[in-house]
This record gives sequence, C-alpha cells and structure tokens, in this order.
Amino acid sequence: MHSTYATDTVQAVTLMDAHDRLHVLLLDQRQLPGAVVYTRIETAEQMAEAITQMIVRGAPAIGIAGAYGFVLALHEAVQSNPDATSLLASMSLIATRLKASRPTAVNLAWAVNRLMQVLQEQLAECNPLVLKAVLEAVQKEALAIHEEDYQGNQQMGRFGAALLPKGAKILTHCNAGALATGGYGTALGVVRAAYEADPTIRVYADETRPRLQGARLTAWELMQDGIPVTLIADSMAAVVMRDIGIDAVFVGADRIAANGDTANKIGTYQLAISAAAHQVPFYIVAPLSTIDLSLAEGRLIPIEERDPDEVRCVVSGDDNDMTVWLAPQAVPVFNPSFDVTPARYITGVITEKGIAYPPYAESLLALFQ
Ligand code: MRU
Repeated sequence: MHSTYATDTVQAVTLMDAHDRLHVLLLDQRQLPGAVVYTRIETAEQMAEAITQMIVRGAPAIGIAGAYGFVLALHEAVQSNPDATSLLASMSLIATRLKASRPTAVNLAWAVNRLMQVLQEQLAECNPLVLKAVLEAVQKEALAIHEEDYQGNQQMGRFGAALLPKGAKILTHCNAGALATGGYGTALGVVRAAYEADPTIRVYADETRPRLQGARLTAWELMQDGIPVTLIADSMAAVVMRDIGIDAVFVGADRIAANGDTANKIGTYQLAISAAAHQVPFYIVAPLSTIDLSLAEGRLIPIEERDPDEVRCVVSGDDNDMTVWLAPQAVPVFNPSFDVTPARYITGVITEKGIAYPPYAESLLALFQ
C-alpha cells in the first residue's frame, strides 16, 4: 500500500509502506528548481536532520514530516523495548529530538505531541503485547494529520479566494504552497483556488533572501501549474504596490501568538509595513495547528537563527556542491530565519475554520470553540 492519497499537486512528504521497509520520501527542496530528487528517510534521526537541513521545510510540511519520523521510530522502538514504560521513555526522547530540529514553526511540536498522546492512550488502553494495534493507531493518526492539512488548505483557499476581485494581483513571500504543506498550500492554496475561478489573476513572488524560497520554490511551483507569476527581489515590493497595484498580500505563518502577532519568514514584517503604507490588505493564511494560544504575544515566539553562510553565499550544482561567495567570507552576519509581524498590521487570519479579524485575542480563541 502507498500510504498517502494521490493529489494533483506536488508532494513534499510521502509515507511509503509498500512491499518494502516502511520509509518516507522527501522531495529535496534544496535542489529545486534545478533537479527533482527524492530522499529516502528510514529513521527519526534522519528525519530530524532533514528538517534541520531544510530538505523539507514550511511549517505544516515539517509537522507532517515530524509525525512520520515518529512513526518510523516507533516501528523500531517496539522491537527493542519490552514494556510500555521503556517504550514511552524511548519515544519521549525521540519526540524531543524531532521537536528540536526546527524551533519556530509550532506545527512540528503540535504534530509530534499529538502522536505522543495517541501512543500514551493506546498503551494505557491496550494490552501492550498487542503492539500491532498500537502501531496501527499511531500511523493512522499521522496519516490523518497529513489528510486534514490537505483538506484544511483547500477550505482556506476557498475563504481567501472569495476576498479577491477579478483579475487580482496578489503578492506573496517565501513559499507557502504545496511544497510547504500536505500538498495544496496555505497562501498558495488561496492562489490556486482564485486561479481556478479566474485565470486572469497574477502573482508577484518575493525572491525571499537568504534561502530564496520565493525564487526557487514559489516560482517553480506556480509555473508547474501554469499560474501566472512574476518574480521580484524583496526590495521591490513597495514599488510594486505603489506603481503596479497589488490587491492583497497573502503569506503563511510559522507561529501565531494568542494576540495575533505572527512569526513568518524573515522579510514578512517589512512587507506588512509596506502593505499598510499603501492600504493593501495583508492576510495570514494558516491552519489552526499554527496558532499557539499558550503564547500571549509575538515576542515570546522562539526565533531560529541559522548559519551565517546562508547570507554570505549561495550553494548550487548537483548535490549542492558548488559555493558562490556573495560577501567576504569573514564578514559578521545576522541571520534570523523568521520575524514577527505585529497584529496591528494584519488585516485577517484565514484558517480552515474561518477568517479571524481584530481583535485577535477574541477571534482566534473563538476558532477553537
Ligand atoms: O524556513 P522555511 O522555508 O521553512 O520558512 C517557511 C515559511 O516561513 C512559510 O511561510 C511558513 O512556514 C508557512 S508554510 C505554509
């Protein structure tokens, strides 16, 4: 059996339990758009490393990948742990390792915690000798996380598309598409749904320094589907808003605090300020799994700082084996991977349960009731 359902969009993460050892295929996003290469993952440690190295990236996609990593580990752990207590202790260490692989996107911890909870319930309920049932229940939950993400994205797409005029010009940042999710997209899900109803829309994609997810991934993904896209450097967004005219900005999120402050790819904050200056509506598109009601405000969101070389150079070539230096190799660099956009710049948060509007402390909470 091929464990994930078929979609007509690109799949970043696929659980495979064919006639082979259980494994996960990750589309290696570091190699796009030059090559479409899949990496085989067989252990939770390999999955944690793949998440850190951004073979898979995007908040919902790393949640799904983390969940599948947990399943891979559980299949191993049941062989070597004779009782429920040692199995739980061993899986708790694995969960901690997976969750630490990227700290800002809360979807990762959310997904791994959800599986840990199912494991605990199963072990409490079942005779621990019936490990097959435990394994099946946890794997079923991981697949449900993937499926729910895909369905939720489509719902967000419909909500977002309804906000747009005919021939809309949409600006987006980073990649919040099929590549970043279970296979449809949050911000690009809105684009997909809008394009289906009106093929005259056009997308402006920020290139998104330093890792160029907009140039490498969003441009590629939209071109695969024939959706009109124009690539711009990040520094051009304000001019595009003023001189070309943008109807709305749609971006994804890595974590949304209870007051609506939103962490997303570095550069989102300056885009929101530009949008406010040009009276362009600025929407966050994200599933409920990205909302972290345990954090009162955005300054509490942990922000990942990455390798300074991401800013100093670009890597390319087969297996990313060529380095082109853009700056002196020893120049000091500040490289936060995400920023927090204050809630006051956000017009609305589009989720699978509806659109939240200010004041967010009330509207976000209401989505969970
Ligand atoms: O560093 P990345 O590429 O994982 O950052 C991705 C983003 O910031 C996305 O906008 C966010 O995860 C939402 S993806 C639907």
